Amino acid sequence: MIEPVEIRLYRPADRADVYDVCVRTAAAGGDATGIYSSDDLMPDVFAGPYLAFQPDLAFVVDVGDRVAGYVIAAADTRAFVERVRQEWVPAFTSKYPEPSPTDAPIVAMGVGPERMLVPEVDQFPAHLHIDLLPELQGQGCGRALIDTLRAELARRGIPGLHLTMDPANLPARAFYDRLGFVELPSGTLGISTS
Ligand SMILES: CC(C)(COP(=O)(O)OP(=O)(O)OC[C@H]1O[C@@H](n2cnc3c(N)ncnc32)[C@H](O)[C@@H]1OP(=O)(O)O)[C@@H](O)C(=O)NCCC(=O)NCCS
Repeated sequence: MIEPVEIRLYRPADRADVYDVCVRTAAAGGDATGIYSSDDLMPDVFAGPYLAFQPDLAFVVDVGDRVAGYVIAAADTRAFVERVRQEWVPAFTSKYPEPSPTDAPIVAMGVGPERMLVPEVDQFPAHLHIDLLPELQGQGCGRALIDTLRAELARRGIPGLHLTMDPANLPARAFYDRLGFVELPSGTLGISTS
């Protein structure tokens, strides 16, 4: 177990730690290291764009010598999709030009940010990703990160927050249920920020 020291805003120097946490929790909550041709692939889809385009909504758990958990988010999913499409996808496509069969479904998600436009996007305009290293889980950091993000979104007048997740990740689903997220008609999970 490792102890959290503080929750604070992301800094560019945290980027490698965030990438590390992402890949180590990317297999339905478990370690995806070595599964894909590059350990950067999952973070390049599910973390990098948020750090690049919305660092003001990236909160990390600092454990003293590194970052071991984060919540990252887009405040306005529609605007975020457009920015990813224009400013992230071109370099991403060059980095993963001929995906292997294993990489292909993840690369398809990377080149198709429109997948983020869930039917309920206008009622729940923000969306998030949250991940903690196993040694940090179960100590209240997940709840604290979501509370921090929700408070900041509420302060900005953004009414709702949603997420999509791998249905195989049953522990995460139990966490979201406990925090009050509800399943929306499309299967997306949503919560108001107030
Ligand atoms: C899912 C995750 C973010 C939860 O964070 P956490 O710090 O472990 O959760 P917390 O300790 O803050 O728990 C908050 C509440 O949820 C409950 N909870 C957490 N995990 C639970 C589980 N597996 N089953 C039932 N309840 C659970 C806790 O009991 C706690 O309840 P309380 O605050 O009312 O006492 C974290 O475990 C994680 O990063 N897992 C691996 C990556 C992952 O799956 N990310 C989500 C991808 S969609």
